[in-house]
Amino acid sequence: MTCATDHVPSGPQLHILPDTDALYRAAAERLLELGNQTLAQRDAFHLALAGGATPQGLYALLARQPERLDWSRVHLYFGDERGVPPEHRDSNYRMVREALLDPLPVAPQVHRIAGELAPEQAAADYAALLRHHLPADGFDLLLLGLGPDGHIASLFPGSDALNQRKQTVVADYVPKLDSWRITLTLPALNRARHVMLLVSGARKADVVRHVLRNIAHANPLPVEMLRPKGQLEWFVDAQAARHITPRS
Ligand code: 6PG
Repeated sequence: MTCATDHVPSGPQLHILPDTDALYRAAAERLLELGNQTLAQRDAFHLALAGGATPQGLYALLARQPERLDWSRVHLYFGDERGVPPEHRDSNYRMVREALLDPLPVAPQVHRIAGELAPEQAAADYAALLRHHLPADGFDLLLLGLGPDGHIASLFPGSDALNQRKQTVVADYVPKLDSWRITLTLPALNRARHVMLLVSGARKADVVRHVLRNIAHANPLPVEMLRPKGQLEWFVDAQAARHITPRS
């Protein structure tokens, strides 16, 4: 597996992969490495999953090699959920169930966000669940995707949820999507010991350039407010990196 790995000055570790399948392979190897390192030192691996389309291929790849991680010792969480029931086509839980959970021969402990509840109730319940299950030093690994507008999880530009400093989970109505979301807040995301951001496709190229130019923007995008206490790694395929890689 070849990938360009570079440290953006005072920024994340950047892995640029030649295509989406290579991105999935590199991300899977890193996730499995972190998972096994964690399980060598701790009882469980607390892993928060990203929703949306990008990570589906990663989840399917992990499900095809279940022997490489003791999934019975994995706690799965969600960075966000849509305000829909778990069997709804828009549900992140449904996507994860179909791509990862159903094919896995061993069941991890799954902590889903109850999107079927009233959004505020779902957020309060999930915050309580995190207090009960998550170790004090947060997620061992957090996976995130990146929206073309720079949103992460369901933290969208201009949302009041970005200013939340106390609560770990909030409900947010997203006007442009005309839908409710339940999302972890920046304090919860930034508590992760490792973060992997997965970015694939040409429609992400503009936001990748905007962020990785490493310019202090007057109004930072949500992804620019991601400052985890642990390591942040970007896994970007060539299409999404096309504005930041020298033309070969
Ligand atoms: C969601 C995700 C969201 C996603 C980005 C990128 O619930 O949709 O949490 O933050 O990661 O919107 O989505 P794609 O991977 O589909 O481009």
